[in-house]
Amino acid sequence: MDTNRGKTYYVTTPIYYVNDAPHIGHAYTTVAGDVLTRWHRMRGESVWYLTGTDEHGQKVMNTAAANGVSPQVWVDQLVEQAWLPVLDTIDVVNDDFIRTTQERHMVRVQNYLAGLKDAGHIYKDSYEGPYCLGCEAFMGEDELVPGIGEFEGHLCCPTHSKPVEMIKEENWFFRLADFAERLIAHYEANPDAVAPRSAYNEVLSFLKMGLKDVSVSRSTFDWGIPVPWDPEHVFYVWFDALLNYATAVGLGDTDGAGAEKFASTWPADVHLVGKDILRFHAVIWPAMLMAGGLALPKQVFAHGWLLVGGEKMSKSKLTGIAPSQIIDVFGSDAFRYYFLRAIQFGADGSFSWEDMAARYNNELANGLGNLASRATAMVDRYFGGALPQVSEYAEADLQIAHLWQRTASAADSAMDTLDFSAAITGIKEFVDALNGYLTEQEPWKVAKAETDAAMARVGAVLTTVCEGLRGVAVMLHPVMPKSTVALWQQIGGQTALGAIELQRIDQAGVWGVLPAGTTTNKGESLFPRLVEDEA
Ligand code: MSP
Repeated sequence: MDTNRGKTYYVTTPIYYVNDAPHIGHAYTTVAGDVLTRWHRMRGESVWYLTGTDEHGQKVMNTAAANGVSPQVWVDQLVEQAWLPVLDTIDVVNDDFIRTTQERHMVRVQNYLAGLKDAGHIYKDSYEGPYCLGCEAFMGEDELVPGIGEFEGHLCCPTHSKPVEMIKEENWFFRLADFAERLIAHYEANPDAVAPRSAYNEVLSFLKMGLKDVSVSRSTFDWGIPVPWDPEHVFYVWFDALLNYATAVGLGDTDGAGAEKFASTWPADVHLVGKDILRFHAVIWPAMLMAGGLALPKQVFAHGWLLVGGEKMSKSKLTGIAPSQIIDVFGSDAFRYYFLRAIQFGADGSFSWEDMAARYNNELANGLGNLASRATAMVDRYFGGALPQVSEYAEADLQIAHLWQRTASAADSAMDTLDFSAAITGIKEFVDALNGYLTEQEPWKVAKAETDAAMARVGAVLTTVCEGLRGVAVMLHPVMPKSTVALWQQIGGQTALGAIELQRIDQAGVWGVLPAGTTTNKGESLFPRLVEDEA
């Protein structure tokens, strides 16, 4: 693994349009970035995690007008009341939150794009063709699909299933076509620069068809960043938005904190994006960077969609579910766990209340939660709440130790390829094995003999379980930050080893860390069972 120690590991989410409140599709990307951030931090790396909001463009402007307020009032309101609070709801520890209406962003965008114009990458022409407001994208005629239902007879966007607008206007254009060959060479030399494989293949075959130049400005409305050399135009929202990843860390600053931040952070290690916006990130964005002579992001990872009724969940199709609807019932940890465990990152997945409730009950309440309460209750009962000194381990105990070493190392490697599901599933299977081991060893029966040998055996079994839970708590901490702190407290990790977030995840596989004498604390149940009608 390339830990690139000198440089900060830089993770980003897309910046979200503030035409509406966040739904679980947005939360999904943000949680994935948060888990990655916490994981790398627990490897001892310096990490920077950026998320934010995309506030310009026609879509946001129209929504504000429909609500009878100015775009600025609209975005300020929605960011304050919905987009910032959702970060707390889903328990995200972003380091920065960029808003594209911020001065720091607008000035850097103007400077960077003026630089590209001066270098000959931007020219004036006129555009005529279809535009999808939902995507905020100029579309090719060949990408459109026939409308159905109320839109029958219209040509529609395949993602939004709504009619496109036909627009004709003067625009400034970016010479994207000039970069096709260099992009192909870049991706052929860096096969991990787009992931998963299906996304990589899509990008390469798209590039091989050749590229057309793209509009970099709009001239029929004014909600955007003014083009400095032609104030009748505002920058096209995607040219404004993509630059956020760089403006937020000081793009273009030649001295001071911005320049220092940029040098230690850029390029991004991973841009997490939904597959709908892959081409913007894997074609236009690197070309914009190449044009300015900047390093390219190490990876763009395109995840799948959360589907409802087989279609991309969205507010505009009235299928949006707010994160709080799920979190009010299951809690933020179970929310984070569920989406990353149940859906292969990169593939589409459907959310269902039944599946969520079943996994919560089986894997969290009856699995991990129950194991922790059984183990700590027995340490209380047989050893007065302190782990005994163990002088001998049996074969079954050593097998658990080996299983954990393999699980931990596989989970840590899975995170290098953003395979959240494999990492979490491996840990969950270890919890199952630990539960099975405890049941088979029957320490409660062994203890009935009350001999020293019997109690030594009981001590070895309970220490094995608590040691297993130590590893599990550390490795699940990035996924479930709250309940693993409670678990850490229960097994005595806090007093014996210090704060959980300071434990090294890349060393979590080392066995035998909890010392004899560690005091456990049987606490509240980690995942309370659901009351029937809540689920
Ligand atoms: N503003 C642009 C992105 C600019 S990035 C420089 C945009 N915004 S968006 O709000 O429409 O969507 C942003 C992201 O939200 C998607 O790429 C994806 O990461 C996430 N999702 C939105 N709906 C989703 C689902 N139904 N399922 C999974 N993720 C979804 O595009």
